[in-house]
Amino acid sequence: MSKKTTWYKDMVFYQIWPRSFKDGNGDGMGDLYGVYEKLDYIKSLGCDGIWFSPLYPSPGVDCGYDISDYMDIAAEFGGMDAFTKVLDGAHERGMKVIMDLVVNHTSTEHEWFKKSRERIEPYTDYYIWRPAKAHGKLPNNWDSLFEGKAWAWDEVRQEYYMHLFAIEQADLNMDNPLVREEVKKILKFWLDRGVDGFREDVITFISKPEGLPDDRLLPFSKGIFMFNHGPHLYEYLEEFRRDVFDHYDAMVLAEAPMVTPKKALEYITEDDTQVLDMMIQFQTQEADCFFTDFRHTPFNLRKMKKAFSRWQDGLAGKGWNMLYIENHDHPRMVSRYGSEKYQKASAKMLCAMYMFQSGTPFVYQGQEIGMTNWYPESPLMYEDVQTRWQYNNVGTNKSDEKRLKPLWNGSRDSARTPVQWSAEENAGFTTGTPWFYVNENYKEINVAEQEGDPDSVLNFYRKAISLRKTLSAVRHGDYTEHFKGSSKLYTYTREDKRQKLLVVCSFTDEAVKMKAPADFDTSKATLLLSNYKENGETMKPYEVRVYLLNK
Ligand code: NOJ
Repeated sequence: MSKKTTWYKDMVFYQIWPRSFKDGNGDGMGDLYGVYEKLDYIKSLGCDGIWFSPLYPSPGVDCGYDISDYMDIAAEFGGMDAFTKVLDGAHERGMKVIMDLVVNHTSTEHEWFKKSRERIEPYTDYYIWRPAKAHGKLPNNWDSLFEGKAWAWDEVRQEYYMHLFAIEQADLNMDNPLVREEVKKILKFWLDRGVDGFREDVITFISKPEGLPDDRLLPFSKGIFMFNHGPHLYEYLEEFRRDVFDHYDAMVLAEAPMVTPKKALEYITEDDTQVLDMMIQFQTQEADCFFTDFRHTPFNLRKMKKAFSRWQDGLAGKGWNMLYIENHDHPRMVSRYGSEKYQKASAKMLCAMYMFQSGTPFVYQGQEIGMTNWYPESPLMYEDVQTRWQYNNVGTNKSDEKRLKPLWNGSRDSARTPVQWSAEENAGFTTGTPWFYVNENYKEINVAEQEGDPDSVLNFYRKAISLRKTLSAVRHGDYTEHFKGSSKLYTYTREDKRQKLLVVCSFTDEAVKMKAPADFDTSKATLLLSNYKENGETMKPYEVRVYLLNK
């Protein structure tokens, strides 16, 4: 039997990165009081689910992805009472809530780590500890994805521990059955409290290869080919499914760097081998960079189209896609694939571009008003651990200006500025002093302004989401890409027995001739959605059109 949960297939999710969503108590930090205030707003978008980036107690080295207690909610976010109120409030409104599950690593402030470094049983082998090799050499040559090498020396234990991310994020030893029992306890703890599922952080990294061999592809690979999709990954996910998820109606969304559709199907094929519901792929994020956002390249539409189509075609009829264009780990899409000059048009176009594909769309906070990147004048204004390391260690011989540019293009902080709620002070995010910088453009781009404007990006999102829900071709139809060679237009159709939908997106500020596939007669179709009032023979800058033919 395949995993029985299917409700997510008809939903649109909203991702909350709590620190920057909305401050409800005036201390400058986003919190669950703020979320509670905005539940109706989220619902009004047409979203029926919320994914919370981590809300747990954490020293905050990686903004919550370094967890020190999995069974509580951080006091700064309002604690468990505020969470229960939000969870109940979401459920009353018919919305599901999923939590982030971060179990590749814990904070070094977690009790398990503190005991493990002291060799207190049963925690001694909870982490990946190794003695130094001869002459103080590291246990292997892997790099951390955030800072330096993947090993840190612990003075207390007199051994190295592995950290694939920040130094304060120690990798758990998932090969230890006791650790897997802890994970199951965490899952059950939240599911029993009524949570509807999880987004599993870098879950494909949890099984390391035996003997932790050196990676020969370094420095390019950082070791990722060694620990991604490790030898026991499937087995561990199957164990979580068997012992936990099979007993609940819960959704499991897995973050999976470098996953291909073929690989994803090993986990999400809808038959009795299924252990996950959806996977978060990265390829659609790589049309203006080489693997990481810091290695910026000019935006390449063909690369983007290829990635979307690869996933649409690759999973068709076998597995379910997770659709997204933004999250807390990448700069804002208007600034990347769209145009800040044509902010409004391009934000709408990007919305329709992915909203009518097959899968479950996720909208990241602020995306629905077309928020753009943030351009600090000093590198010292960045908070993010990965960005700071990049600045302090890469290209340090270059001028300050040259060092700042890659951060503008690549930093996750670009998408972490507070949500712009209004033109009031601090963009209406807080009455206190915001924990982080507010993007200067909040007076032009904010929710309050867009609420009152039927033509706004916000109301376009509402229209697109509501259309998506009424169109059977979007839920069930086949996907076909057309004019693949075009470097200016992205054109696809969705077709089922009753309907055929045509989506044409312009990714340029130049005038381009509108073109429909030969078997789609636009004169017989209804234009359901566009970002321009008049749609002629040429597509205007960043124009999008969605046509429907009923059969
Ligand atoms: C992926 C998360 O999305 C990111 O924000 C985090 O820094 C790393 N995993 C480490 O947990």
